[in-house]
Amino acid sequence: MTKYVGILTAGGDSPGLNAAIRGVGKAARSMDMEVIGFLDGFRGLMQNRTVRLNDAALSGILTLGGTILGTSRDKPHKMPIGGKIMDMTDMMVDTCRKHNLDVLVCLGGGGTMKNAYRLQEKGINVITLPKTIDNDVAMTDVTFGFDTALGIATEAIDRLHSTAHSHHRIIVVEVMGHNTGWLALGAGLAGGADVILIPEISYDAQVVAQAIRQRSREGKRFSIVCVSEGAMSGDTAVAWNEAIQQKKKAESKAEKNKADAEIDNVEAQRALSTQMLTQELEELTGLESRTTILGHVQRGGTPSAADRLLATKLGTACAEFIRDGLYGVMVASRGEGVEAVPLPDVVGKRKTVPPDHAWIRSARLVGTCMGDR
Ligand code: F6P
Repeated sequence: MTKYVGILTAGGDSPGLNAAIRGVGKAARSMDMEVIGFLDGFRGLMQNRTVRLNDAALSGILTLGGTILGTSRDKPHKMPIGGKIMDMTDMMVDTCRKHNLDVLVCLGGGGTMKNAYRLQEKGINVITLPKTIDNDVAMTDVTFGFDTALGIATEAIDRLHSTAHSHHRIIVVEVMGHNTGWLALGAGLAGGADVILIPEISYDAQVVAQAIRQRSREGKRFSIVCVSEGAMSGDTAVAWNEAIQQKKKAESKAEKNKADAEIDNVEAQRALSTQMLTQELEELTGLESRTTILGHVQRGGTPSAADRLLATKLGTACAEFIRDGLYGVMVASRGEGVEAVPLPDVVGKRKTVPPDHAWIRSARLVGTCMGDR
C-alpha cells in the first residue's frame, strides 16, 4: 500500500537540508511512497501550506544551501497569532490527518526534536533528522551543517591571520554555536587560533591577556582569539548556571517565568561580551584590537561534501525506516552507519563539549590558551 510522507524543516537553516530532503524524497518515491513538503516549518503545517515533492522538485537541489521548504522558529504549542501566543498543536494534527500522512519527517535541531515529540504525543507518527551547525543534538555523532560551518569559520580564521599579523593586532573572532563550543573549538583548533573560548569552560580575561603578553615576549606580535558566541567569563557563568538551576527547580509558572527572565538577562549580557572582551584585552595588553563577528555567513551557501554525504545517508535511511514502519525515532549517525534512537532519549538533551574531549586536550598540548587557569 502506498505510504504518505510529509516533510518539514524547522529552526535555523543549515547547509545540507536540501540534500536531506532529496535523500528522503527520492528514496521514498523509489519505494512507491507519495511525498509532500510543508512550507516554513510548523507554521506551514498549521496553515496547511504544501508543495508536492515530485521528481522535478527533488532534482537539482543537492548542492543548494538553505532549504527549498523554508523554515521558521515557530513552536506548535506557542504560535504567535494576532498578538497572542496560542497552542496550535491540534490544528497541526488535523493537517496531518487531512493528508492521510503515515509519517511526518521533521528536519531540525534540539527544538525541533521537542516539537516533533509533541505531535507524537498527540498520535502522529514522526521521524526526525538531526541538523544544525551547532552540532549539539544528543545521541548522534554529528549533525549535518556542522562540517560546512566548520570549513567557513576555519577559512575566516585563516584569513584573519594575515591581517592580524600585518597590523600587530589582536583579532577576536566570534563564532556561532549557541550554548555549545563545538564550532569555535573545531574552527579554532583547525585554524590555529591562539586562544579558544567556549561556553563549557568559563574564562578569565586576565588569563587570556597573560597568554597574549607571553606571545609578545616571544616576538609574536599578533593574536587570534576565537570565541564562541556562548562563552562566558566566570561571573556570567555563575549567574547563568544559577538561572538554569532555578528553572529546573521551578514549581510554579511564576517561578519559571522569573528564571526565564534571568536567563534572557544573562543572554543579553553575553551578546555584548565579545566586544567588551576585545576592549578589555586592548587595555590589558596595550595591543590594538578588533572584533570580527562571523554571524550568519557560517550558515549560508553550498554544503560541504561531508554534509551532503551525511544528509543523504540519514535521508535515505529515513525512507527505509518508513518502509519498515519504524516511527518515533531520530535517524542518528553512528560511525559509518545509522541508528534509530527513540525520541524520548533525545528530547530535552544537549550534547556539550566534554572537558576531556580530544580536541580540548590537543588544543592545550599545542599551547592554545583556553581561558582558564
Ligand atoms: O542554531 C543555529 C544558530 O545558528 C546558532 O548558532 C545561533 O545562536 C542561532 O542559530 C542564531 O539564530 P537566528 O538565525 O534565529 O538569529
